Amino acid sequence: MLDKINLIQSGFDQDIQNVKSLDDLEIIRIKYLGRKGNIAELFEEFKTLSKDEKPKYGQTLNILKNNCQSKFDEVISKFEAPENGAGSYADLTIPPRVREIGTSHILTQTLNEMKSIFKGLGFSVYEGPELESDFYNFTALNFPPDHPARDMQDTFFVTPEFVLRTHTSPVQIRLMENKKPPLRAIMPGKVYRNEAISAKSYCLFHQVEGLYVDTDVTFAELKGILVYFLKQFFGADIKFRFRPSFFPFTEPSMEVDIWWTPEGKQGRWMEILGCGMVDPNVLKNVNIDPEIYTGYAFGMGVERIAMRKYGIDDIRVFFDNDKRFLKQF
Ligand code: DAH
Repeated sequence: MLDKINLIQSGFDQDIQNVKSLDDLEIIRIKYLGRKGNIAELFEEFKTLSKDEKPKYGQTLNILKNNCQSKFDEVISKFEAPENGAGSYADLTIPPRVREIGTSHILTQTLNEMKSIFKGLGFSVYEGPELESDFYNFTALNFPPDHPARDMQDTFFVTPEFVLRTHTSPVQIRLMENKKPPLRAIMPGKVYRNEAISAKSYCLFHQVEGLYVDTDVTFAELKGILVYFLKQFFGADIKFRFRPSFFPFTEPSMEVDIWWTPEGKQGRWMEILGCGMVDPNVLKNVNIDPEIYTGYAFGMGVERIAMRKYGIDDIRVFFDNDKRFLKQF
């Protein structure tokens, strides 16, 4: 028995020294440490020994087993976690996972470009809340009590008194309440309308409001600044027209249309903004004397402006969050 133990020990020692791969190790494991390996066989033989003989060999046999197992563990751990990575299971040729990097939404990019044009003209940026009281959204802007825009069809009423703002014009009121003229600011933000959703209209969109209040502000200045904006934003050959219009908070009022030929369709005029001279009633509502001050205001639709610039003919794509669309910008 003792001879056999020594033989196995020296055989194992020799084999383990010559190991070159995990496959070699597996062969050794089966040969010596497996359930039917040499050592297991010896233990079977050990069972058949007489009571007197057992104590003689039991301890030596256990030492053999533990010796072999710990040497084996030591060698296999070197193969599995080598210091320099050589021979490890990690496949260093696998291409790395590509991390997707986001970009600004096209509306954010459009807004930023609009802001930078107006900042260059001396306008600051001012913001107001999206949840507005009926007073700011309508009353202070000179909407008569029975004006159709207050109707449930256009306006999302949150409570009888509070609405999701239907335009950015209420921010004009907040600005004029908080600061004294001269005032020159743009007011970008989201607006909400309870409209049937289609390629042309969505329940949510963005506007950039503009306001300039000072002594002697003229309609000619309003036209001048809008033409400058259009040419800066779209290029010098942009085709546009001014069209008389009506808003409760401006007098006179007009709208600006730009010419657009969507791909594969007939050319048409598209309205992109409303504007006018601030109505004296509005100035009075915020305690600015209309005898001393005049002002102009405008409100631009950001989605339509982006649609014209980038050739997008369905407003809904801005809000779908389809990466195939978003990634193009
Ligand atoms: N608030 C108007 C709208 O949502 C747009 C507008 C028209 C804004 C005339 C103005 C303005 O500031 O002067 O349709």
